[in-house]
Amino acid sequence: MQNYAYIESNLESNIYFNNNLVPGKGIEFSTELDIPSPYYFGYKIENILLKNLEKIEFDKLFFLTEESVFNIYGESLYKKIKNKFPNTFLNILLSGEQNKYFKNLEELCEQLIEQNISKKSVLIGFGGGGVGNLVGLTAGLIYRGIRFIEIPTTFTGQTDSTLSNKQAVNGKRGKNHFGLYHSPIFIIGDTYYLHTEPKNARRAGIIEGIKNGLISNENFFTYLYENLAFYNAENAFKNNDLALKIIQSKLEILRKDPSEKHYGIILEYGHTFGHALEWLMKGKILHGDAVSFGMRIAAELSNEIGLLSKEEVILHYDIIENKLGYKDPFPAEITSDMLLEAMINDNKKTGRELRFVLLEKIGKCYNPEGDYLVTIDLNIVKKVLDNYILKNRI
Ligand SMILES: NC(=O)c1ccc[n+]([C@@H]2O[C@H](COP(=O)([O-])OP(=O)(O)OC[C@H]3O[C@@H](n4cnc5c(N)ncnc54)[C@H](O)[C@@H]3O)[C@@H](O)[C@H]2O)c1
Repeated sequence: MQNYAYIESNLESNIYFNNNLVPGKGIEFSTELDIPSPYYFGYKIENILLKNLEKIEFDKLFFLTEESVFNIYGESLYKKIKNKFPNTFLNILLSGEQNKYFKNLEELCEQLIEQNISKKSVLIGFGGGGVGNLVGLTAGLIYRGIRFIEIPTTFTGQTDSTLSNKQAVNGKRGKNHFGLYHSPIFIIGDTYYLHTEPKNARRAGIIEGIKNGLISNENFFTYLYENLAFYNAENAFKNNDLALKIIQSKLEILRKDPSEKHYGIILEYGHTFGHALEWLMKGKILHGDAVSFGMRIAAELSNEIGLLSKEEVILHYDIIENKLGYKDPFPAEITSDMLLEAMINDNKKTGRELRFVLLEKIGKCYNPEGDYLVTIDLNIVKKVLDNYILKNRI
């Protein structure tokens, strides 16, 4: 494998790599997507939020957060905002994934209308990816689109969900079935919030970073493979450094195709299996963990149809289980038939065909005839699933 030249190519990243964490001093970059959002990233950078709020015009601010985050950070931040901008209102939402249902979307929209929200109002979403998705979707729907600010408080939120502008809630048959694209007017990624995030949630966020290397950047994969042990001992500096690198790795892909319909669809590697598993587990498995099973199965499937070598499949297991340390067995209650049925209902379905993003080699997705979504015969998928489940259950 090639040497890692990723950090060296990015001056801003060196700020963190050299361990010069400067509280209050973030860096700013643009997501450079179709509708670009400024992203302010750093450690203890609430001051940047307050300064930016001064620059925009609005009649009301709605601070939307979840209880656990409100209790740790949100209350003091809300008070600072309210102090400066008295027309700020607080709504406490449910926690995490529970938010992502139509019932809660409807309730929030109606509640905001009752609170006399106008086209000039701005929503602030302060919480994990679940809150971010609900707030983004709500902002996209109210009066056909009002402005919102995203302040993700989890590793996944800061490095993944906030970047795609995809806002969605779940349906009765699967995840993220109902949504739209709506971009925040700016993003604040403050890694100070990450130190209270449960370790397993942080680890699940890193899994999406591993995916970015696997699908598009062999150097980045190698870097993570060699350095994850260093990052596993979490601290503020390491959170900053790793989060920034993963953000860059995702933006590199998104900038080539912000719609995620052509090249960008590669971000779905492991997600057809992962979403189905996450859906079947009804909140008992984290998104990233489900995707990690999905990526291992997708690697086996890539090998089964003659793409990835066995060694490259083993690298998948090695980085997830040994380097990252996620060793949970495959959930005992899930069968291949359950997964197949759930995948058929997934949001990428076309008829009853199953289509997957597959790897040709580490760092490169298979792209026959210009399409990254490859149709695979149901019997082959079932064979791979049965083998995987047999070997990876306790
Ligand atoms: N739109 C996209 O492209 C995209 C990409 C990745 C993930 N997502 C979505 O994001 C969601 C997952 O987001 P998540 O991983 O942030 O989980 P989450 O939003 O479900 O939050 C997990 C838990 O962490 C708590 N929490 C949040 N911040 C905390 C903090 N700083 N300290 C302590 N606890 C904290 C929350 O209250 C919640 O209980 C899923 O719904 C997934 O579909 C979307």
